[in-house]
Amino acid sequence: MRGIILSGGSGTRLRPLTNVTSKQLLPVYNKPMIYYPLNTLLKASIREILIIVAPERAGDYLNLLGSGSRFGAKFTYEIQDKPNGLPEAFVIGQNFIDKENVALILGDNLFENDFTKDIKAFTKGAKVFAKRVPDPGRSGVVKFNAKKKVELIVEKPKKWISDYALVGFYLYDCRVVEVAKNLKPSTRGETEIVDLHNWYLKHHELEVGIIKGKWRDAGTIESYFEAQIMAKEKLHKQLII
Ligand code: TTP
Repeated sequence: MRGIILSGGSGTRLRPLTNVTSKQLLPVYNKPMIYYPLNTLLKASIREILIIVAPERAGDYLNLLGSGSRFGAKFTYEIQDKPNGLPEAFVIGQNFIDKENVALILGDNLFENDFTKDIKAFTKGAKVFAKRVPDPGRSGVVKFNAKKKVELIVEKPKKWISDYALVGFYLYDCRVVEVAKNLKPSTRGETEIVDLHNWYLKHHELEVGIIKGKWRDAGTIESYFEAQIMAKEKLHKQLII
């Protein structure tokens, strides 16, 4: 299993904090934000990691993280010229993924959950992860039927459909590259990761796991603040880096 940390984007919701740096380099308690998703991958024994960054911040990431040898890992870097959407990670990462399975984690997502077992058990298809939250409309939302099977996945639904938000950690087999290449941008002008999930759902190859423990995406000033509290109270003791 190879790992990708998607750490580009513009971080407009955190301005002015992100005016001169990348969101994922901002401090979260006592570490740069990206240490947390990196820790999640390393803890799950993923050692080959592609870090995708915005062009204007590439040097900062290299200075901070280097070759990966310090972490017992091998880091590769790629540049995303513009934030064209999460699925572009698989187009940019095509050569890196090759014929392997891949785990994608968003650079601003912090997890208490340990994904080791899910990664070990994963062979093919796609597995995404959900958590019951009070504000599910902020991300992809998954609705289960009475048999606890996935019925529907919708990106930022305007009307309530379920309390289960999809979190920023995803497992796919290498077919994801071809699926991602064929996606069309949505009305937001970006390709949408929900379209990848729906491709696997249509082929009856999508599994959804429910995660344990706390989860935050640090994308808004409120959630960034909460992420710092989570890091202080829970995560910093578990960091292996
Ligand atoms: P978002 O929080 O959706 O976008 P953003 O970071 O650009 O922030 P804002 O909406 O405030 O402008 O992105 C989620 C994560 O994915 C974050 O770590 C940035 C990353 N990302 C990319 O690297 N490339 C992309 O094309 C997109 C859409 C996101």
